[in-house]
Amino acid sequence: MKKIILTGDRPTGKLHIGHYVGSLRRRVELQNSGLYDKIFVFEADAQALTDNIENPEKVRQNVIEVALDYLAAGLDPAKTTLFIQSQIPELCELSFYFMDLVSVSRLQRNPTVKTEIQMRGFSGESIPVGFFTYPISQAADITMFKATTVPVGEDQEPMLEQCREIVRRFNNIYGETLVEPNILLPENAACLRLPGTDGKAKMSKSLGNCIYLSDSADEVNKKVKTMYTDPLHLQVSDPGHLEGNTVFTYLDAFATDEQVARYTTDYATLQEMKDHYTRGGLGDVKCKKLLMAVLQETLEPIRQRRAEYEKDIPAVYEILRKGCEVARAAACETMDQVRRAMKINYFDDSALIQEQSLRFQKQ
Ligand code: TRP
Repeated sequence: MKKIILTGDRPTGKLHIGHYVGSLRRRVELQNSGLYDKIFVFEADAQALTDNIENPEKVRQNVIEVALDYLAAGLDPAKTTLFIQSQIPELCELSFYFMDLVSVSRLQRNPTVKTEIQMRGFSGESIPVGFFTYPISQAADITMFKATTVPVGEDQEPMLEQCREIVRRFNNIYGETLVEPNILLPENAACLRLPGTDGKAKMSKSLGNCIYLSDSADEVNKKVKTMYTDPLHLQVSDPGHLEGNTVFTYLDAFATDEQVARYTTDYATLQEMKDHYTRGGLGDVKCKKLLMAVLQETLEPIRQRRAEYEKDIPAVYEILRKGCEVARAAACETMDQVRRAMKINYFDDSALIQEQSLRFQKQ
């Protein structure tokens, strides 16, 4: 069986370094590993609209921002198909058929839907149907491209589980047609969910605690300088705490021992530096200096690539348009198989027409 990767993001804001360590970095590695037959990365604009119904301009603006972030991070259109969800109408078609396979109560039990409903303050039956059913549409996104591997954050686990259920149900009823995908989670705990620069659980635009891939070197340094560390670490000589210390969480996510050795004079590994910090005698400023150096080393090439692509925006749209064409061809192939399996392929089935004429001639 072919090994196919599919993943995507809602284009509701520029991508930040949480996206980078949580998914983007891994996608680029997977892309360059040569282990996969196909890679699809897409912008879930239709999904973004399910909770930005009255704000289409926001989604439209961010489609190009996210495309630039993808390309800047190293996704290569020669190896990865970059496309936009709304441009593949077959996704609506498949979602529609999937809706027959999922009950309302199953959707209500989806933990991600549950928390999102609470977060957005929808009460009971006031939830828009499109929003409520987005796990179904997400299952269509995944299965349409026969994805075997879906690299996403842990928050997407319930979506993948629901997708696998839909696939099993579909194949059970209509015969082996669709592929059950596997989730691929980020490798280390710090990358699972990078906290905001203020130490809050998550980076989020509304909290203003993000470091964006498109931030300038100065902006990044400024954000690191004011970053949350350990409120009990008042004097350099005080023992410091690593737990919940954002600087060290970021170092865990970004710094290699080689970088620690190169940028500091006293430590060969990050662990040695952590030991000094917890013993006491190591100030936050030194730790932040290291983090700045490490972040700049990662972000500078991304910034440069972004600047290159920004010079020719029509070319970026052209990359997306071509990606949509490739994705659409794959979608049409799957839909042919789905229609055949569901027995709604009336006109391309000469056996059916013959069978029916025989049946009626006998009468
Ligand atoms: N729900 C995902 C997010 O919010 C985006 C998404 C939509 C997705 N369809 C997908 C991710 C299919 C992986 C596979 O980030």
